[in-house]
Amino acid sequence: MKRIRIFLMMVLVCLVTKLSAQSPKPISKSVMENGKTIYLSRCLACHQVDGGGVPHLNAPLDGASAVIAADKAKLIRIVLKGYSDRVEIDGEYYSNNMSAHADLKDQQVADVLTYIRNSWSNKATAVTAAEVKAVRAKLK
Ligand code: HEC
Repeated sequence: MKRIRIFLMMVLVCLVTKLSAQSPKPISKSVMENGKTIYLSRCLACHQVDGGGVPHLNAPLDGASAVIAADKAKLIRIVLKGYSDRVEIDGEYYSNNMSAHADLKDQQVADVLTYIRNSWSNKATAVTAAEVKAVRAKLK
């Protein structure tokens, strides 16, 4: 009897550790749908439907190390301020200028970034409206 209790306790401990280790929270369908709508109207022309970008002109988003990076503040700044640094991105240079999208609401910026972080071959944690708000406040 005692052995069974110990066994059951161990099963319970294993289950709890497994559940708590399941970090990146699943991303809701509505966030992805909203993000896609914004992507199609604001980002598609340059970054293309498959996130592949245009060689030497517009950086790809699919498979880009910065897009799935833990540093979400950088991504938020790029969307709010635009990007024309002409820096090396994953071994390439891109000559187009990315326009600023500061008119998007915090939730919209969050959703489009969550969308590009979880589309094509990308998989990364979601971006929240609160994170966008914090970055926007520092830009002013
Ligand atoms: C007018 C074309 C254009 C539009 C529209 C555009 N981008 Fe960009 N984007 C670029 C270019 C060009 C770069 C690279 C800039 C550089 O090298 O300085 C870039 C870079 C990026 C990067 C950085 C990629 C990396 O690997 O470092 C992200 C993230 C990004 N864009 C997201 C977006 C999102 C999200 C949207 C829509 C809200 C968007 N872009 C709309 C042209 C565009």
